[in-house]
Amino acid sequence: MIQRQSRQYTFAAIFMGILISGIAAPGLSAEKAADSAAEAERQKALKNPYPNDFGPDKIDAGKYSAEARQGYELMQVKCSRCHSPSRVLNSQFVDVKPEELPNLKKTDPAIFKDPLVWQVEPKIWQRYVKRMMSKPGCELATEDGKKIWKFVVEDSLKRKTGAAAAAWKEHRRKLLDDFKEKHTKQYQELFEPKP
Ligand code: HEC
Repeated sequence: MIQRQSRQYTFAAIFMGILISGIAAPGLSAEKAADSAAEAERQKALKNPYPNDFGPDKIDAGKYSAEARQGYELMQVKCSRCHSPSRVLNSQFVDVKPEELPNLKKTDPAIFKDPLVWQVEPKIWQRYVKRMMSKPGCELATEDGKKIWKFVVEDSLKRKTGAAAAAWKEHRRKLLDDFKEKHTKQYQELFEPKP
């Protein structure tokens, strides 16, 4: 009697074991696949440096709008999984509203003349944040992505245009020149596409 009962328990335990592993295994392997896709993305980001990576990874966002300040904090966490926040903060991207373009061309003509220092393009940051969000391993809620976008837009105007344009040019040019010297091949790959 006792023996039969314990055998029943053993069967029950084996059955439960099979059931649980059957449920859990696909979940686990999907998680593993996602982990390795994210790792591959991170390796890709690290293997191919950008001049941006050699500039500072922090700025003072104290005077930015509340939403942009939140975006800055989120950027520090969310955009540093595969590469340093430097890649974001020292980028040539300048995101402007299309209707601001004509005026900007009058007040700030220099920023349209050197695309490796200023790449002025409506929605360029929006496109890039979306592109990064679609990468495996970039777990970012749409709402947080929007705040990061608000930050990079405000930041590109505050630190790269108007009164800040000359200092930005000096900073970005130095990053480019140093990078060209130390990472010549990668520089050519990024900025001198083969015809
Ligand atoms: C999952 C890994 C990953 C995460 C997370 C990630 N990036 Fe990237 N990032 C990359 C890789 C890889 C590249 C190299 C170019 C490419 O694959 O698009 C890159 C390149 C860049 C570049 C350089 C683009 C250029 O052509 O000059 C910028 C700017 C950038 N990322 C911004 C961001 C921002 C902003 C975030 C956060 C919203 C972010 N990244 C989060 C992997 C990532």
